[in-house]
Amino acid sequence: MIKQHYDKIRKKKVMVTGGLGFVGHNLVKSLVEDYECDVIVIDDCINSSEEAIASVRDKVAFHKISVLDTDRLFPLFKDVHYVFHLACIQIAASSSNPLADMQVNAQSTLQILEYFRHNPSPALERFVYTSSCSVYGSSSRLPVREEDPTRVLSNYAATKLLGEQYTLIYNRNYNIPVSVVRYSNVFGYGQSPRNPYCGVLGKFVHNALTGQSLSIFGDGEQTRDYTFITDAVDATILSAVHPMAYGDVFNVGTSVETSVTRLVDLIRMVVPGVEVENIPERDIDNIRRRMIDIEKIHQRLGWVPRVNMQKGIQLTIDWYKSTL
Ligand SMILES: NC(=O)c1ccc[n+]([C@@H]2O[C@H](COP(=O)([O-])OP(=O)(O)OC[C@H]3O[C@@H](n4cnc5c(N)ncnc54)[C@H](O)[C@@H]3O)[C@@H](O)[C@H]2O)c1
Repeated sequence: MIKQHYDKIRKKKVMVTGGLGFVGHNLVKSLVEDYECDVIVIDDCINSSEEAIASVRDKVAFHKISVLDTDRLFPLFKDVHYVFHLACIQIAASSSNPLADMQVNAQSTLQILEYFRHNPSPALERFVYTSSCSVYGSSSRLPVREEDPTRVLSNYAATKLLGEQYTLIYNRNYNIPVSVVRYSNVFGYGQSPRNPYCGVLGKFVHNALTGQSLSIFGDGEQTRDYTFITDAVDATILSAVHPMAYGDVFNVGTSVETSVTRLVDLIRMVVPGVEVENIPERDIDNIRRRMIDIEKIHQRLGWVPRVNMQKGIQLTIDWYKSTL
């Protein structure tokens, strides 16, 4: 049954913005390899490189342009069936460059939606905005559900919430077919450790394998809900093809809460003897606990995560070993 939904995207014309990024290039590969899509990749390479899509480079159309460059972006929407809008300024850079953060995460979204409002496209089946569970802030009630109040604590969360709100408004007011996914700490293959904004797990695995210590911000008892990359990619595609995802927002995670100290323990099971150092927290380290409720995406779309932390860490370590 669920396969029949996924099949809708097969051989379709798809655009992925931020398509060289961590989630983006994994999504691009899946769209090409699993669904034979005709994929347009948009990325300005500010936080990535073309190398990320080397294995499918001859099967995609890559445009090194900014999502803010509307003159060059808009003509590419012709006959596109699905748009996955992933281009973003990462949380670690959002406070140092808040204006760019607002422009890429929110303004570009508004510009694209305005384009479709004024140039209605019969081809467009879904515009997917990838938001973040950081919009919940430090919620006192766990696991957090989609309908719980948002409480943004960073520039990044503010601009991601604005991006998703624009997306939903343009669905309600102008019938643009949209869906929104809120990812929770995605990890796994292809998270470049050279990227200063690489997530904690990518950095930990890289440091563990290269004999460096693992830096823990604060006491290590802060928790997150970690999602393996293949699960995040599957949920994102499902949110685009499933009729019940139309006009709605879905958490994507596991409902499992893992502390940074526990992450270190899990890595030590595979790479024994890894050292840690505790360093002061940064301004963005203001969310103590995170665990998200995934009942909505499970009940409505039939999605469940398939890779648990232990398996995900093992797969990530194997991948890093093969690339180091
Ligand atoms: N990785 C996570 O854990 C996570 C968690 C929550 C939400 N998200 C969201 O998922 C999406 C993908 O995240 P990611 O981890 O792959 O990020 P990433 O930083 O790896 O990728 C973002 C990509 O966007 C590109 N980009 C930045 N500014 C651009 C611009 N002006 N024009 C074109 N391209 C531009 C970058 O070069 C990069 O390749 C983002 O929207 C992010 O907010 C990710």
